[in-house]
Amino acid sequence: PVLGAGLLLAAYLLGSLSGSLILGRLIGVDIRKSGSGNAGGTNALRTRGWRFALGVVAIDVGKGVLAALLPLAVPLESALVWPLQAACGMAAAAGHVWPVFFGFRGGKGAGTLIGALAVVWPVAAVGVVAVWLLVLFSTGYVGLSTVLAAAALVPLALLGPEIGLAGRLTLALIASGFIAFTHRDNLRRLCAGTEYRFEKARLFAR
Ligand code: G3P
Repeated sequence: PVLGAGLLLAAYLLGSLSGSLILGRLIGVDIRKSGSGNAGGTNALRTRGWRFALGVVAIDVGKGVLAALLPLAVPLESALVWPLQAACGMAAAAGHVWPVFFGFRGGKGAGTLIGALAVVWPVAAVGVVAVWLLVLFSTGYVGLSTVLAAAALVPLALLGPEIGLAGRLTLALIASGFIAFTHRDNLRRLCAGTEYRFEKARLFAR
C-alpha cells in the first residue's frame, strides 16, 4: 500500500507539471487569462499558435505516458501492475487538472489521459483518437470531440482485447466520467450555442 500510494503521489506530481503553464512562464504569459481560460493544448493553439501548442501537447501527453510507465520501475506483484498503471494515469490527469504547482488551476486532462491510455490500452487509444478526429473535423468543436471520444471508451471496453472486461470497463467509466466533468463548461457553452468553434482554414493560421 505504501508503494502504491507513493506511485500515485509521484504520478500526481508529474501531472502537475502543466505544459502550457511551464512554457507560458518561460515567455511571460499565462494562457489562463485568455481564450477559454483553460491551461491546455487547445487553448494554447487558440491563443499562442501551433508551435507553442505543439510543445504544450508534447509535455502534457508525455507526462501521461511517463506516469503510466512508473509502476514498471518498481517490483510489484504482476496482478497489481496494470491496475496501478491505470491509476497512475488517472492520478497524472488529476494533477494536470488540479496542479499543486499552479494554484490547483490547470487544464482538462485529455492529453495526459490519452498518453496514459496509449501505454495501458493502446487499441482503445487508437479508437479514441479516431473518434476525436472524426467529430473534430465534422463539427469544429474540440471540447465536444474530447467528451465523445472519452465516452467511446465504454463501447470499446466491451470489445476488448487487453486486460479483463471488468478492468477495461472500470477504467472506461472513470475516464469518461472524469472528462465529462472537466468539460462541463464546454458542454454548457455548447447548449447555450456559445462554444468556440475551430474553422479548418484558421486552425494553423498563426
Ligand atoms: O481538453 C481540452 C479541450 O477538449 C477543450 O479545451 O480550451 O476549448 O476548453 P477548451
